[in-house]
Amino acid sequence: MKTVFVGAARPNFMKIAPILAEVKAFPVVRPLLVHTGQHYDRELSDVFFEELGIPTPDLHMGVGSGSHAVQTARVMTEFEKVLLEERPALVVVVGDVNSTLACSLASVKLHVPVAHVEAGLRSFDRSMPEEINRMVTDSLSSLLFTTCEDANRNLSNEGVAPDRVHFVGNVMIDSLKNHIEIARQSEVLSRFSLAEQRYAVLTLHRPSNVDSEESLSRIVDAVCEVAKELPVVFPVHPRTRKGLTAGKFKKQLGQARDFLLTEPLGYLDFLRLLVSARLVLTDSGGIQEETTVLGVPCLTLRENTERPVTVSHGTNTVVGTDPARIIREAREVLAGRGKKGGVPPLWDGKASSRIAAVLAAWLEKKRN
Ligand code: UD1
Repeated sequence: MKTVFVGAARPNFMKIAPILAEVKAFPVVRPLLVHTGQHYDRELSDVFFEELGIPTPDLHMGVGSGSHAVQTARVMTEFEKVLLEERPALVVVVGDVNSTLACSLASVKLHVPVAHVEAGLRSFDRSMPEEINRMVTDSLSSLLFTTCEDANRNLSNEGVAPDRVHFVGNVMIDSLKNHIEIARQSEVLSRFSLAEQRYAVLTLHRPSNVDSEESLSRIVDAVCEVAKELPVVFPVHPRTRKGLTAGKFKKQLGQARDFLLTEPLGYLDFLRLLVSARLVLTDSGGIQEETTVLGVPCLTLRENTERPVTVSHGTNTVVGTDPARIIREAREVLAGRGKKGGVPPLWDGKASSRIAAVLAAWLEKKRN
């Protein structure tokens, strides 16, 4: 009755950590942690295991980077071996990265049921690799754990039987609540000479924003303007770093004194930065959720979001990538007219205990 938990890339680790902690209360769940190795740099992987107290993976597949087909195929090939060796009763996948899809597909082909945490989110934009990963994973999963009502509706519209869907809340927020106090002790603000409420944070890694010089340049132009009004801290994802090496950006960023580029930060330093930021600009999904719970205004530099609850309930505004609009919306926030919002239902820090209880009941039923 082993249950395999899959971790693969940075945004997975804060989702898997609280679930692994909560399943300890249920002896029927015998967890086996598998790291696919989709992310392998210390700053994108190891630091999260240390800071979130995730046990060392039982198995590390070391698949690394590659094109979508290559990466997905490698994960499937390696994960199939794990499944044949370990014969788990259930596989738990989180989020929407390539490994999420690959492990789900390898599992169901061997008749191993899959549970998907963070099911039902839809941007309705099939040019996003994550949208394909979400749709396929949901269609294959036996247990679907959702974070919000719109995810429940999306699944229902797609014909998913309601008894497969469990509305449990948001595990990212469990990790946030579990670590916020310790994160407050981080010295990241003094490291960058920042004062509370007197800086902005930028993150960018979506292929549609960073893989073409033209789109990256439009965003950098706009943020250079924002950086004239307050310092902007920019932890740079490896994908984005590749794009920024062009000579054009070196000159542009060199002239923007208060545009502070840094390596990707660990979980606690980044949380500390978010808590006291005046403004966050991002194309990340998870950061839209974290800023909503922290009450920090967030401008999402995309044309859509698969997390509309952060707009309807929270502090998020989807502003797209038009430089004039980004600058205008940022000035609104700096003038004190940023969005104020509330916390969506069940984002209460207890999602993983609800998930653990459902998993345990499911496994008990299967055993008997
Ligand atoms: C992946 C996920 C994305 C998630 C993001 C968070 C997919 C399709 N995308 O995107 O949903 O939001 O992670 O970071 O699964 N690289 C390194 N070191 C690493 C990992 C990657 O340098 O540890 C570089 C490689 O050159 C690689 C590039 O970053 O080619 C992109 O990595 P990849 O895992 O393909 O996608 P991400 O952009 O990180």
